[in-house]
Amino acid sequence: MKDQVDYSLYLVTDSTEAILGSRDLVQVVEQALIGGVTIVQYRDKTSDTGVLISTAKALHEKCKAHNIPLLINDRVDVALAVGCEGVHLGQDDMNVSEARNLLGNDKIIGATVSSIEEARIAVERGADYLGIGTLYATNTKKNTKDIIGINGIRKILKSLNDGNEAEKKVKTVCIGGVNASNLQRITHQLHAPSSPSTQPKPIDGVAVVSAIIGAPDPKTASSHLSKLLHSPPPFKAHSTEPHFWLESNAQEITHVLSFASLATKSVREKSPLSHNMTNLVVQNFAANVALCIGASPIMANYAAEAPDLARLGGALVVNMGTVTPDGLANFKQAINAYNLAGGPIILDPVGAGATSVRRSAVAELLNNGYFDLIKGNEREILAVASASGFSVSGPTSQQRGVDSGTAVYTLPQKASIVSTLALRERCIVLMTGATDVISDGNRTYTISNGHAYLGMITGSGCTLGTTLSAYLAANQGDKLLAAIAGVLHYEIAAEEASRREDVKGPGTFVPAFLDELYRLGVKVAGDGEWEGARVECVKDVGEGVLVLD
Ligand SMILES: *[C@@H]1O[C@H](CO)[C@@H](O)[C@H](O)[C@H]1NC(C)=O
Ligand SMILES: *[C@@H]1O[C@H](CO)[C@@H](O)[C@H](O)[C@H]1NC(C)=O
Ligand SMILES: *[C@@H]1O[C@H](CO)[C@@H](O)[C@H](O)[C@H]1NC(C)=O
Ligand SMILES: *[C@@H]1O[C@H](CO)[C@@H](O)[C@H](O)[C@H]1NC(C)=O
Repeated sequence: MKDQVDYSLYLVTDSTEAILGSRDLVQVVEQALIGGVTIVQYRDKTSDTGVLISTAKALHEKCKAHNIPLLINDRVDVALAVGCEGVHLGQDDMNVSEARNLLGNDKIIGATVSSIEEARIAVERGADYLGIGTLYATNTKKNTKDIIGINGIRKILKSLNDGNEAEKKVKTVCIGGVNASNLQRITHQLHAPSSPSTQPKPIDGVAVVSAIIGAPDPKTASSHLSKLLHSPPPFKAHSTEPHFWLESNAQEITHVLSFASLATKSVREKSPLSHNMTNLVVQNFAANVALCIGASPIMANYAAEAPDLARLGGALVVNMGTVTPDGLANFKQAINAYNLAGGPIILDPVGAGATSVRRSAVAELLNNGYFDLIKGNEREILAVASASGFSVSGPTSQQRGVDSGTAVYTLPQKASIVSTLALRERCIVLMTGATDVISDGNRTYTISNGHAYLGMITGSGCTLGTTLSAYLAANQGDKLLAAIAGVLHYEIAAEEASRREDVKGPGTFVPAFLDELYRLGVKVAGDGEWEGARVECVKDVGEGVLVLD
């Protein structure tokens, strides 16, 4: 019986005026039950025992009518008096083992945990499920010490998955600030594989408070949340099932290149919006690159415009060239809008490892948004990996790569870093360098095109981001191959430009590069193909360079 409990949409009540308003809690909960919540916790820290018992009885009647379990927060005595299905205990409430003694084995006991240690103890003492949090700060709970974010929850899930039978089996619910605009992203991010061979422990449900209790129409709010829970997030909606390696490398590369020319054609046909949030340093150049490849640039740093822009089918480039608290809040708002609309987002974590401000900015962005593609040089990608919860180990440890300008990792090590990070963040990771390495966690490729002049002009990294955004926006079925196509367009144009007689150095290179971006785009979109592409499959990625903290 207890094993069959559905934790997926877990309602926690709140009787405070700020959330419930002047409405009747029992009626609000009844609406939520009709809407589809799958379990209810009655949480009321202020009412007297008499009120608690009478309200709990009324709630239990409604829950029973819908065949939904009712749990009482903290008060084992109230649960016993009402005869409901169980209790939920916070860290300051009664001990799980004592509650178990009083309630017996048939009742459900849940515990709030915010660390691996608390999770381990709660399971050992017999908890049936864990409420893991706090995910985000909310008005209902402000205890910032417990705010552990996506990463904190992923760590606890991993530790349970690696633990004993009871730890593997225990059910889990995440709590803190979950609402309709972030629910799909959160569940997507929490399902984070740490290796290709192990399935991550799933989160069994999301706990929701004000998004239902405080909603104008709790029934509609609940059914909407329930629908979201059972459908893929918008940013995965267009993905086709990725092909795995074709039989031979030659076949695989042929496939990648024929995809690339179609992708170029699709960019020119769709002329997708490339929405660029960044500083003004090389704005002109970036806008020209976008136009040359056939995209439509728009420079908008004001996040209030993002929801409208996100609906136009383009992609967003988040470029961390300059980081300010205002800028960060702006980014988060725009990221949220694109995640909701399903528009691809490229994260360009410029200088991510350089300062602690930038390191924490990356961590905050990863905690608040899903990025379809993260691109950066070796140092930047390592900084993202550390924000994602990894530490760097292996032969070249000591994190020298983070601070030094030159590459310190071998190609197999880079492939390992890129694919491990891509797998965990469930996105595409591109590490740029003399040889670029790109992966979706499953398929890893190298690309060795490009020219040294690209490294001598301002904004080349940023404008690659612009190019990638157009390719992803126009080719959402397989974003990995779309990104490879974008890199090829960019780097082969640079090679062609450098070969021209009128190009004498980086200065004359810039206009020639723009010309070649345009010329090759038109040519390949016609019926050409990407000649001179140097792409290879990396079937044997090394392991263990990145390890989870
Ligand atoms: C909780 O219960 C366990 C097992 O009965 C006991 O060892 C522990 O001392 C109790 N802790 C507290 C704080 O009551
Ligand atoms: C949803 O929750 C997030 C995180 O708590 C918050 O920033 C956002 O404003 C909320 N959105 C709505 C529509 O309530
Ligand atoms: C990886 O490839 C396998 C084999 O085709 C496939 O079943 C799986 O869905 C892929 N995983 C990802 C994350 O693309
Ligand atoms: C794109 O990114 C660059 C790099 O920072 C930026 O300067 C430019 O304003 C952005 N805008 C467009 C339209 O590409």
